[in-house]
Amino acid sequence: MSEEISIIGLGLMGAALAGSLLDAGHRVTVWNRSADKAEPLVARGATRAATVAEAVAASPLVIVCVLDYPAVYELLADTPLTGRVVANLTTGRPVEARQAAEWVAARGGDYVDGGIMAVPQMIGRPGALVLYSGSQAAFDRFEEAFRAMAEPRFVGTDPGLAPLLDLAMLTGMYGQIAGFLEAVALVDSAGYPLTEFTSTLLVPWLNAMAAAQPEWVKSVESRDYTTLVSNLEINRSGLENLVRAFREQQVKPDLLLPLKAIVDQRTARGHGAEGLPGLVEELR
Ligand SMILES: NC(=O)c1ccc[n+]([C@@H]2O[C@H](COP(=O)([O-])OP(=O)(O)OC[C@H]3O[C@@H](n4cnc5c(N)ncnc54)[C@H](OP(=O)(O)O)[C@@H]3O)[C@@H](O)[C@H]2O)c1
Repeated sequence: MSEEISIIGLGLMGAALAGSLLDAGHRVTVWNRSADKAEPLVARGATRAATVAEAVAASPLVIVCVLDYPAVYELLADTPLTGRVVANLTTGRPVEARQAAEWVAARGGDYVDGGIMAVPQMIGRPGALVLYSGSQAAFDRFEEAFRAMAEPRFVGTDPGLAPLLDLAMLTGMYGQIAGFLEAVALVDSAGYPLTEFTSTLLVPWLNAMAAAQPEWVKSVESRDYTTLVSNLEINRSGLENLVRAFREQQVKPDLLLPLKAIVDQRTARGHGAEGLPGLVEELR
């Protein structure tokens, strides 16, 4: 079904979102602070709104994708939102999303927050995912339109959940990047071919480890950190060894040191016989 959809914010991401909606046959109205960014989309069939108010008035679904939440408030401050669904796909924090939901509701609108798990080049293609939270009714009403941009996944009615899960996924990614780069620096110090190391050894190893990790959360859920895999004392000694090896190879272990500090702390507090998932207790 063809929907009327307005998009506010035509940066790299907003333009990709608008393009995917046009490709799917929706009637798209666009607005951007720097007006020239609307031109390629107008050439593809979008309607240009002269003001934010005109963009909001044009469609029951208003997608906003700008730099940050202060910019969202700045843009929508003087515009009534009665009868509108605001889908805010701007990256933010859970607290910001909850405040934005209240702010939009106070202006008569319904709110869904979205966490985009994709880069602009992935939008409209298989593999792109957007997490949504907030108004279930608003999500259900526009789920098929959202599907044109990326697989839509509704994660809950707390508006803060989509950004929280988005940030959690980025956290996992940064941890993996830290381990990957430390490993590459260590191997590079020995002059071993890096492509050979990463493609035939490191990545298969990381994939195998990642595949086992959903089992770990059972310990966190039950708060029972008994392990038959490897206990913290063994990991403490392993990390000690790693850090020494790094220094002997003249490579800084700086991205590993925060993990080592938490393992040392947990072990010193008498939990050396438990498994690695118990480190979550030190983070509470
Ligand atoms: N790019 C990605 O890979 C990616 C992935 C996931 C999520 N996101 C999120 O998507 C959002 C947009 O990112 P992007 O990559 O499209 O960034 P971008 O290319 O830098 O575009 C930023 C957009 O925000 C607008 N903007 C900034 N400050 C504004 C203000 N005070 N008032 C009005 N408009 C303002 C810009 O308008 P002008 O054109 O006038 O400057 C532009 O439309 C961000 O929240 C980002 O975190 C991006």
